[in-house]
Amino acid sequence: MRKLNGKLLKYNIAIFISGRGSNLQSIINYSLKNKTNYNVKIVISNKQKAKGLSIAKKNGIKNYFMNFTKSRKLGNLVLNDLKKNKIKLVCLAGFMRILPDYFIKSYNGKIINIHPSLLPKYKGLNTHKRVIKNKEKFTGCTVHYVNKYLDSGRIISQKKIKINSKDTEKTIEKKVLKIEHKIYPLTINKILTNL
Ligand code: GRF
Repeated sequence: MRKLNGKLLKYNIAIFISGRGSNLQSIINYSLKNKTNYNVKIVISNKQKAKGLSIAKKNGIKNYFMNFTKSRKLGNLVLNDLKKNKIKLVCLAGFMRILPDYFIKSYNGKIINIHPSLLPKYKGLNTHKRVIKNKEKFTGCTVHYVNKYLDSGRIISQKKIKINSKDTEKTIEKKVLKIEHKIYPLTINKILTNL
């Protein structure tokens, strides 16, 4: 844990979202606990109506909508903002766009994502539907580094759950989301501990 004059110093992180923001909420909740080493400093959404923006607002966290993946000019504005705010880690939480190459390079190794499957299986969308169709016995979630390929960067952590015969897409989504909310904040904390 970093300290200055006996005071705990927290690393600033940014969260990118596109929608509901339940992972954002769990990351904020964890950051408010004792002895966590990060502080959610900025929340950026590429969708204007993302519910997650109001979660950020309610928690007094700087937040804004910017569809920055479409334009280099906007992308550079975001990068400058991240640097200005000393962001150590960017966490994608339900962010539904692939980040441009220049963006990933300039934050190299400092962008992570959570995906609702046991990667490398089931990259992309509709993971739970495909898991059921293929009669998988297990599924779960994965936190991984972001590279230029979809859901393909180095795996950092994973958590597994069992699928039973009564499970549906909905029940699996609920169970997986529950473990996402546990594993994501812990993984962020762990990465920053090792910085
Ligand atoms: C989560 O299932 C996450 O794994 C996936 O998108 C969903 C986002 O949910 N990438 P929320 O916006 O955090 O509630």
